[in-house]
Amino acid sequence: MPTQKPRKRPAPTRSTRAPSPRPVFEEPTPLWGGRTLRRDPTGYNPPADVRPEDVAEFQQLVAAGAVSFPLSRGNPGDLYELATALGPSGDQQVALIENAGRIVFHAVGDIGATNTGHYQDEVSVADRMTAECQVTKMQDRPAFLYLLGDLIYDFGQAQDYYGQFYEPYRNYAGPILAIPGNHDSFIVPGTPVAAEPLTTFMRNFCALTPQATPEAGSLHRTAMTQPGVYFSLDAPYVRIIGLFSNALEDPGLISSQGGRWGGVPDHQLAFLTAQLQRVKSEKYAGAVLLATHHPPFSFFAESSGSSGSHGCSPDMLAQIDQVCRQVGVYPHAFLAGHAHNYQRYTRTVRFPGAPNDYDVPFIICGDGGHNVISLAYSTPGHPAREPVNGSSVGYLDPNPGVPTPVPLLLNSFDDTDYGYLRVSVDREVLTITYNRAGTGITTPPLVPADVVAVNLASHTLVAG
Ligand SMILES: [Fe+2]
Repeated sequence: MPTQKPRKRPAPTRSTRAPSPRPVFEEPTPLWGGRTLRRDPTGYNPPADVRPEDVAEFQQLVAAGAVSFPLSRGNPGDLYELATALGPSGDQQVALIENAGRIVFHAVGDIGATNTGHYQDEVSVADRMTAECQVTKMQDRPAFLYLLGDLIYDFGQAQDYYGQFYEPYRNYAGPILAIPGNHDSFIVPGTPVAAEPLTTFMRNFCALTPQATPEAGSLHRTAMTQPGVYFSLDAPYVRIIGLFSNALEDPGLISSQGGRWGGVPDHQLAFLTAQLQRVKSEKYAGAVLLATHHPPFSFFAESSGSSGSHGCSPDMLAQIDQVCRQVGVYPHAFLAGHAHNYQRYTRTVRFPGAPNDYDVPFIICGDGGHNVISLAYSTPGHPAREPVNGSSVGYLDPNPGVPTPVPLLLNSFDDTDYGYLRVSVDREVLTITYNRAGTGITTPPLVPADVVAVNLASHTLVAG
């Protein structure tokens, strides 16, 4: 009797799996047990280093390498609903958040680790936020994570998405939305069009349907369905207007600035205008946040000559101020990344027609895993001088587009730890906490390292 050879079962591959019509976020089985998170030890491959001889060339290129980007889908005034991101159960989940009376979410930038040493730094942040999704009460459970750019170093290559994004966030139990940073958009010369970094970013965050992508490897998280690299997320109690601040190392820009940056479209001016007009016409009562990767303000010392390595973007801010002034709406807070540390400023704005001055937090949270850096470096003849919390730093806001009766204030900073923002909004107050990542995932929730809270109706601080 002839022996029957056993049929060889083909190895499962992503290409044979039917596309899922519903989004998938975390892996189906939590991978931790006890006190430690078990990770795929082969999951991280550091990107190829930029060769030292190429560094100077790159520095020149990133000073001039602004990029074009497509119109976001839909009309400028359209909203991308959190319920859409959540999939078929979205309406039900949004109703639960509304019934709870507040929403909680995470935000952080500059997550990508470029070497094995920093991988643990990125994981420490990712694990802390992941743990908060797993163990907290429903009304305290973060609904989503909002990444503030620079996800993938060095320049947004497809092969680095797995190690720097999908693997560290494999168990984050919720949607992860993102605006691209300069490292997610700068085009290395010679890159084929199909492999340009924004193309890869859009495949993973701006897909038409929540489908699996090759960048996710064997993991199950599906692509996000944002309408574009700039979009307005509408969630219970909060609306986040996210703008793409382009590919330069510095400064950030949201338009061609009157033709100064050739090839950069002006889509976002119409978008920002339409979004603020919608806030006004709807008499929207929730928190309005503005998010860009590049920060309007980032500390440098006024007189000592020492400075941090990421600058301010005053022209970008002046343009945003101008749109806000024209429409008559100013955001409750501004979130950014880019500088690899935490910085919190308060800008007092005398907004036309408002019954009182506005206190507007401007927050950088760029210590999500990529190489935390100091606020001040020494230069020859000038020792590094770090600021003192509470310092008046009006020189960082030299050309405001709205009246600022009080000089800009640097409230607090952290340039030695990795951390993230935990934001909560109810019907009356927007609260933003900065949390150091720490270590371990089973410790009690950390006491925030910094807190600021804004009354939504008056735009005045009630904490911080
Ligand atoms: Fe950046």
